[in-house]
Amino acid sequence: MSERKTAVDDAGSGLAVMLLHGYPFDRAMWRAQVAFLSTNGFRAIAADLRGLGETKATGPVSTMDEMARDVAALMDELEIDRAVICGLSMGGYVALEFVHLFHTRVSGLVLAGTRAPADNEQEKLVREQQAQRILAEGLNGIAEATLPKLLAPKTLAEKPDVVVQVRQMILRSDPNGAAAAQRGMAVRRDYSSDLAHIASPALIIVGREDPIRPVADAEFMHRMIANSRLEIIEDAAHMTNMEQPEVFNRSLLRFLEKLL
Ligand code: MLT
Repeated sequence: MSERKTAVDDAGSGLAVMLLHGYPFDRAMWRAQVAFLSTNGFRAIAADLRGLGETKATGPVSTMDEMARDVAALMDELEIDRAVICGLSMGGYVALEFVHLFHTRVSGLVLAGTRAPADNEQEKLVREQQAQRILAEGLNGIAEATLPKLLAPKTLAEKPDVVVQVRQMILRSDPNGAAAAQRGMAVRRDYSSDLAHIASPALIIVGREDPIRPVADAEFMHRMIANSRLEIIEDAAHMTNMEQPEVFNRSLLRFLEKLL
């Protein structure tokens, strides 16, 4: 366990890339990117967002605002002034909040499997039900119910190691922390009107078969962010970076090299 408030993997040197995981995952989901980026001239920092992995929650709701401020505090501790902020799904909400709060600290933005609009009332209700279910029963049920949405059929059939890694990540999440993150997502802002103000270069990534945050969500962000590029990854659903790490890494590297 790191002595920092936020647990991290920090490898390599050069332009820093902050890797922000989704829900209910932890920094282990970025293992392939940390290895790849740190051997290709970049500093890769994968952080456990509050309440997940080894970073503790501080209350019953972990907001995207608090998580974004945690990332800024972590960058201060690591003496990183500006970084590329890369988030998947919930990590993407945190990245959008971060660029809103600290745009001068962003040299590039990577938004994977995420979306700009806030939840509607029905979605908020489902999140609250899920938070209560997690607190009562743990994460077992969530893991089994969500795996077929998180991973494409080809991944489920042909990449048993990825299936095991994703399942284990979900199962080791702390129920209190996961419920707090779920409630934090329910109260997140609508980022849609922020998009036109994003000046930093952006890479938007989506899995062709993602039922959770489908291609249309990514196309919307691509239309609204002026300096953005859209990458649609085939044979992947929600966990693009784990399902198709070579394609994801190639696309990331192409984007990062243009920022140097
Ligand atoms: C995630 O993967 O982070 C979640 O699916 C995001 C969400 O529930 O909106």
